[in-house]
Amino acid sequence: MLKRFLPSSLFGRAIIIVVAPVVLLQIVAAVVFYDRHLDQITRRLARSVAGDIGFVAGALTRDKDSLSRFHILQSANLRLNLSFTLKPEQKLKAGPLPQPNAPLEALLIRTIDEGLELAFTIQNRPEKKNYLIQVAFEGGVLRVLVPHNRITSATLEVLILWIVGSSLLLLAIAILFLRNQVRPILRLADAADHFGRGQEVADFKPSGAVEVRRAGAAFLRMRERIDRHIRQRTEMLAGVSHDLRTPLTRLKLELAMLRDVPATAEMRADVDEMEGMIEGYLAFARGAAGESAVETDINALLDEAVADARRQGGVVDFAAIGDLRGRLRPLSLKRCLDNLLGNAQRYAERCTVAATRDGDVIEIIVDDDGPGIPEAEREAAFRPFYRLENSRNQGTGGVGLGLAITRDTVRNQGGDVVLEEAPQGGLRAIIRLPA
Ligand SMILES: Nc1ncnc2c1ncn2[C@@H]1O[C@H](COP(=O)(O)OP(=O)(O)OP(=O)(O)O)[C@@H](O)[C@H]1O
Ligand SMILES: [Mg+2]
Repeated sequence: MLKRFLPSSLFGRAIIIVVAPVVLLQIVAAVVFYDRHLDQITRRLARSVAGDIGFVAGALTRDKDSLSRFHILQSANLRLNLSFTLKPEQKLKAGPLPQPNAPLEALLIRTIDEGLELAFTIQNRPEKKNYLIQVAFEGGVLRVLVPHNRITSATLEVLILWIVGSSLLLLAIAILFLRNQVRPILRLADAADHFGRGQEVADFKPSGAVEVRRAGAAFLRMRERIDRHIRQRTEMLAGVSHDLRTPLTRLKLELAMLRDVPATAEMRADVDEMEGMIEGYLAFARGAAGESAVETDINALLDEAVADARRQGGVVDFAAIGDLRGRLRPLSLKRCLDNLLGNAQRYAERCTVAATRDGDVIEIIVDDDGPGIPEAEREAAFRPFYRLENSRNQGTGGVGLGLAITRDTVRNQGGDVVLEEAPQGGLRAIIRLPA
């Protein structure tokens, strides 16, 4: 449940982790402040207004002389930040107290009611920024104008301003810092991704926090180890194959000089087979050797592979669809296609090649109408030197490296090869590549 509302990125989560507690704290502080502190302040201010009015009313009651009353009112107006006027001939319309439209106002009315023993009405006049309090006084009315600032304190607005302001500032700082923390992680992910596809990652340097830098350094060491491992394997295979070629050539020469008997023909066939195998090993070694990825037009590559297959007598249907491009290693990929088409030619009559793009994935499908490979053997067919029973009996002369090489090179470019059953009953090989 919660997961759906939380951001999925590290950046978003970190922002929430940093900002949420602070905002929560400020909200709690503001609420408590508003509830307690402000409540008390207002009560005190209201009480002081009620006290002032009561005091003036008391002084006026004691002194009936109009000149003294004038002086009392004058000095009250001067000193109390209230404005008093005495209207002896008016009558106070004693109704119920007005409905307060804010909790603050309710508190104010209640407090004045408690502090002042005379009947009064109170009226908020926001346009004049004051309250008009009319107090029943000796059959007349004592009008008192109470400016808003005598009753409300501006602290709430100031507080909210500070809270919002500081929260925004905090958010800005958090965004600035966290972006810089997340960037090295993204760079590391990119570098690993590119390496997985066999593309160059020239300018990757571990950066950022210690942990991220450690991960980056570990990645670089791992890349170095993998590169070294591949290089060693390739060099060894190439070396062995190359060394075997020389005695094999000698053997061929010696065979050629022998008299033609049935035995020599068989030996020649064996030597040819060995030569084919060694070519296969060398191709395998070459496939892994460092070809770099370039922008490749897959349709052109397919055209070429299909034309080659047709030249060798294959029946191939091929229709190019759309514009298919990707950062790939064209020579290795061409070798993969040659392998698949070669298999189709060797084990089937006709085949169909199709290529499509599905989102970021390019799919190359090679279907044939041969016997196919039973499902249980499909995984094994990818193993080097693995050949199915039927192909061994037919003596079709494969080495069993074609599919191994194909999978190896395609995986090196961040893709994969799978085998399925074709609609026409034979084998379907699908190469999936990142676009
Ligand atoms: N299109 C196909 N139809 C039926 N069987 C196949 C097909 N492709 C491959 N196979 C089986 O899978 C085995 C492995 O194929 P792979 O291409 O790796 O080796 P190969 O074709 O025998 O030799 P190489 O390709 O090295 O010359 C083959 O020996 C064959 O038995
Ligand atoms: Mg093959």
